[in-house]
Amino acid sequence: MKVLVTGAAGHIGKNLVKAIHQDYELVLTDIKQDEELDKLGLFQQADLAVLEEVLQLAKGVDAIVHLGGIATESTYEQINRNNFNGTYHIYEAARKHGIKRIVFASSNHAVGFQPINQSIGPDASHLPDTYYGSSKAFGENLANMYNKKHGIETASLRIGSYLEKPSEHRNLNTWISVRDMNQLIVRCLEAEQIGTSVFYGVSSLHNDYFDNRDAAKIGYDPEDNPEDYREEIENVKMENVTDYIGGMFTNFGR
Ligand SMILES: NC(=O)c1ccc[n+]([C@@H]2O[C@H](COP(=O)([O-])OP(=O)(O)OC[C@H]3O[C@@H](n4cnc5c(N)ncnc54)[C@H](O)[C@@H]3O)[C@@H](O)[C@H]2O)c1
Repeated sequence: MKVLVTGAAGHIGKNLVKAIHQDYELVLTDIKQDEELDKLGLFQQADLAVLEEVLQLAKGVDAIVHLGGIATESTYEQINRNNFNGTYHIYEAARKHGIKRIVFASSNHAVGFQPINQSIGPDASHLPDTYYGSSKAFGENLANMYNKKHGIETASLRIGSYLEKPSEHRNLNTWISVRDMNQLIVRCLEAEQIGTSVFYGVSSLHNDYFDNRDAAKIGYDPEDNPEDYREEIENVKMENVTDYIGGMFTNFGR
């Protein structure tokens, strides 16, 4: 399978590429040049905000893992350019080149104003907490539209907190380890059918924030568990802690 990975020079991208480069033919891209990636696949520097560049990248690929974009809150202009437009360009490239599978790095911030302690499932309404979170909700909506109109399947991964190890109380519910993230993305690439699925990118199948049991249906079986770190982190609370899933993001810009 030939897979285009956007944001390949980023945290998640780089670790993913190192883990899967022998199993897939990879086309790797990022706006940043990255010499290490050259050895792991065909690296092409490109800007997701430029449609022609994205169309060029996607020629002849079977699936796209779309990780590229601004990965936190920023100005509307930056989010619009890199996330809204970048994700739209990915879907247009998939449509034009007949690519039928996308794994989209969405975020818990697409549902950031959902309350904690209700174990929300994949059907929870979008309640973004930032422009960033809005761009992820938009990406999930594009996924639905391009599925209905053009038969493109997407797994939207509402990623929690991707870290080597959990470091604060919130991570008891939001943490995803490097190897679980890699596993979840591979399961999404390999699943026979995904339609437009939403999975939570966390190292658990059920916790106080998320009901992620649908992910088990495509074989996701997390190897890590934030509970193993409870003693270390349960008393570490960030300032501006809130009762919403998005944590401190719900206070940005107020
Ligand atoms: N890390 C997390 O905890 C987390 C949580 C939720 C969602 N996500 C999402 O997962 C994805 C990857 O996250 P990450 O932690 O690896 O972030 P990252 O910032 O390390 O990687 C994102 C990459 O996208 C690239 N990029 C940005 N704008 C671009 C453009 N216009 N054209 C081409 N490349 C561009 C950046 O250069 C960067 O290398 C992001 O979409 C992020 O929103 C991450």
